[in-house]
Amino acid sequence: MSVDLTTNYLGLRLKNPLVASAGPVTEHPELLHELDAVGIAAVVLPSLWEEQIEHYDWQLAQLEEYGANSFPEALNYFPPLVDRRGSPDDYLSRVMLAKQIVKVPVIASLNGRTRGGWVRYARMIQEAGADALELNVYFLATDPNQTSAEVEQQYLDLVAAVRAEVTIPLAVKIGPFFSSLPNFAKRLMEAGADGLVFFNRFLQPDIDLNTLAVAAHATLSDSRELRLPLRWIAILRSVLRCSLAATSGVHTPADVIKLILAGADAVQVMSVLMQRGVGHVRELLEGISRWMAERDYESLEQMKGSLCQANCPDPAAFERANYMKALVNYAGIQV
Ligand SMILES: Cc1cc2nc3c(=O)[nH]c(=O)nc-3n(C[C@H](O)[C@H](O)[C@H](O)COP(=O)(O)O)c2cc1C
Repeated sequence: MSVDLTTNYLGLRLKNPLVASAGPVTEHPELLHELDAVGIAAVVLPSLWEEQIEHYDWQLAQLEEYGANSFPEALNYFPPLVDRRGSPDDYLSRVMLAKQIVKVPVIASLNGRTRGGWVRYARMIQEAGADALELNVYFLATDPNQTSAEVEQQYLDLVAAVRAEVTIPLAVKIGPFFSSLPNFAKRLMEAGADGLVFFNRFLQPDIDLNTLAVAAHATLSDSRELRLPLRWIAILRSVLRCSLAATSGVHTPADVIKLILAGADAVQVMSVLMQRGVGHVRELLEGISRWMAERDYESLEQMKGSLCQANCPDPAAFERANYMKALVNYAGIQV
């Protein structure tokens, strides 16, 4: 029996819930081509960073100032100050190229934390042909004088500023550390987000005892990290009317199925594709279809959210009650 894996994410009709998330796998044209061939439903391009844009703007300003104070013929003696590789303009070319390479929707990504001139790139990304935009707000509050309300407002202002630049669907990718995630998520929607992507994996720096230096290495995830998005998608599915995507720890067909049962509209993968190759998408799709067929599910829509908190036979399982039960029943220690 063939099952219908289609899903609606950000108003885009996807052929299945698997989206390649922003990262090295969506950077190279050959890999984009392969992702399309193995059945990925959408790709999120690696981010264009606020710092990247501001650095470029600064370089251009330097160049203008230099030009104004020099003899025009002397400019020919110097190499160009601005290297286009890795520049914001180069990013726009990558969006256009990705649109030519893949048949599925291309989601571009902006990564920043403050409202500023750099958000004009949202509009340029739309003009370059992106089907949607993912805004990754990566901000770690370290100032004891800054309140959580101020931090949240900074996020909301940024989302509103980006929303004002584009008409394409806008997803916002955030971390999990908010005092009242449901309230904040609702306000992100009110500020203009069409969907939320849970969760950013913040870089966790370590200390290298040999060099006595801070070691800031990105690490890849494993399936245990799935629990955080799983819980929050299950809780928010019935209280928020927006698209929900999961990212972090999706490695197996079972991981994808759990997130769909919790209520995810789309499921993003990166670490597993870096570890096992792009061809793993096929295994994920086959595994999901097989599981659904064995249980007589005809479509993903039928499954979606059937174990979200509101539909779950034991809603407290997602909350404090389960925490108490789990600790009291913990049987991992031998006495
Ligand atoms: C090497 C690397 C580069 C990444 N680059 C980006 C990026 O440019 N923008 C972004 O939003 N997320 C980026 N991510 C995060 C991934 O998109 C993804 O959200 C995260 O790795 C969790 O998913 P996973 O468990 O499937 O890896 C990156 C992750 C890795 C490992």
